[in-house]
Amino acid sequence: DWTPAAFIHETVERIKQEAGDKKVVMALSGGVDSTVAATLIHKAIGDRLYCIFVDNGLLRKNEFEQVLEGYKHLGLNTKGVDARQRFYSELDGVTDPEKKRKIIGRLFIDVFDEEAKKLTDVSFLGQGTIYPDVIESMSVHGPSATIKSHHNVGGLPETMKLSLIEPLRMLFKDEVRRVGRELGIDDIFIGRHPFPGPGLGIRILGGVTEEKVKMLQEADAIYIQHLRDSGMYKEVWQAGAILLPVQSVGVMGDERTYEYTCALRAVTSVDGMTADWAHLPYELLARISNDIINRVRGINRVVYDISSKPPATIEWE
Ligand code: XMP
Repeated sequence: DWTPAAFIHETVERIKQEAGDKKVVMALSGGVDSTVAATLIHKAIGDRLYCIFVDNGLLRKNEFEQVLEGYKHLGLNTKGVDARQRFYSELDGVTDPEKKRKIIGRLFIDVFDEEAKKLTDVSFLGQGTIYPDVIESMSVHGPSATIKSHHNVGGLPETMKLSLIEPLRMLFKDEVRRVGRELGIDDIFIGRHPFPGPGLGIRILGGVTEEKVKMLQEADAIYIQHLRDSGMYKEVWQAGAILLPVQSVGVMGDERTYEYTCALRAVTSVDGMTADWAHLPYELLARISNDIINRVRGINRVVYDISSKPPATIEWE
């Protein structure tokens, strides 16, 4: 019988054996997986685990600061790196979703690599890879054609020859959450919705600008706060706002507006492989829509995505 407590015990022992007195470097994303993986490794080797958290400028509103604070709380030895402008400048003018993913993925590896190289004598790379990532990366590289190029797997910095430590490789998400709870990790991490590595970069359809990121961060923060306040956050598997490259006419006072459209996405799912659109209450959607349109400059229309996966995907890009 699998239990979180037994898993933690065995895994920590195994990491101790494997890592010995060597150093491990690891990128944190603020997500459940990397947080739980890092906490396990930290339990085994303490501050010989060096964590790096990159602000790619595509995170949710205030997420960088909040997450860094959370890591401090967990005792993780974490360096926050502000690389926002590098991401914005390389994304400038790029509209193709796969190109955006590649740029964000490559730049992330570059930044991580530069930071990791500043550490000496590192032998291992820790990763929060979970079982569905392993499966999905096989199908991405397999004959069944590229669906989306995820960079969770295979993100090994090329210039460093590091062995991998992936303590969650055999676990599903719900098991990772159970392990995390057993480890005493705060619900702000454990209950967190999945968030894609390329972040808001693939939720701003078409070209990404700093201005659009700010706009989407505001709309998304209002949306997520309403989900939390209404108790719906934990009822859905993943939710987020998407900024469409569509402008439409509206009225504000007696002014005509011509502004952007924000789409709201919320899905229920077990593993993200299939998903149903979440049947959020109309009253809640009405409040969210009003708040976004009244409070976010540049958005004058809000729509709700009622597509399931398949045939739609969870993300729009
Ligand atoms: P889709 O859109 O393929 O998403 O239905 C399934 C799950 O994967 C996440 N996702 C990504 N995660 N890099 C990531 O790390 C990516 O490029 C990426 N694309 C999608 C998505 O948020 C959902 O949880």
